[in-house]
Amino acid sequence: MKLTVNGRSYDVDAEPDTPLLWVLRDELKLKGTRYGCGDAICGACTVHFNGTPTRACRLPVSAAAAGEIVTIEGLSADGSHPVQEAWRRHNVPQCGYCQAGQIMSASALLARNASPSDDEIDGAMSGNICRCGTYPRIRAAIRDLAGSEEEGAS
Ligand code: FES
Repeated sequence: MKLTVNGRSYDVDAEPDTPLLWVLRDELKLKGTRYGCGDAICGACTVHFNGTPTRACRLPVSAAAAGEIVTIEGLSADGSHPVQEAWRRHNVPQCGYCQAGQIMSASALLARNASPSDDEIDGAMSGNICRCGTYPRIRAAIRDLAGSEEEGAS
């Protein structure tokens, strides 16, 4: 079947119910999308599916083939997407494992809402778990991009 990932069309050889995550990682060698829980709960495998943050661990590749997929590798050619730059400015990652998923959720939020409120930030990011507890820095980075004041130092 044909799969469109990061603006490029691929012919993939996979069973229709194979989770998109494994096609991305094993067949297309796009390793930035991480396996976390495998149950669409932790958010480590978040990609954009037609612009919507979507868990690649539970999306059958046959369903993914109906739309456009963007992975962390597709946000920018050189890691200079504004969200990635803000992540650097705020030293967001700790171990880093969850961060591709966090960035994909944050970039989708900012694409649909350039000035999210704190409640909107928290709502949009609530499905992305960080075992290192980087949440205050994630919120600060998103606020930075939204041009809003930080509520105290983080
Ligand atoms: Fe370690 Fe989020 S930075 S799990």
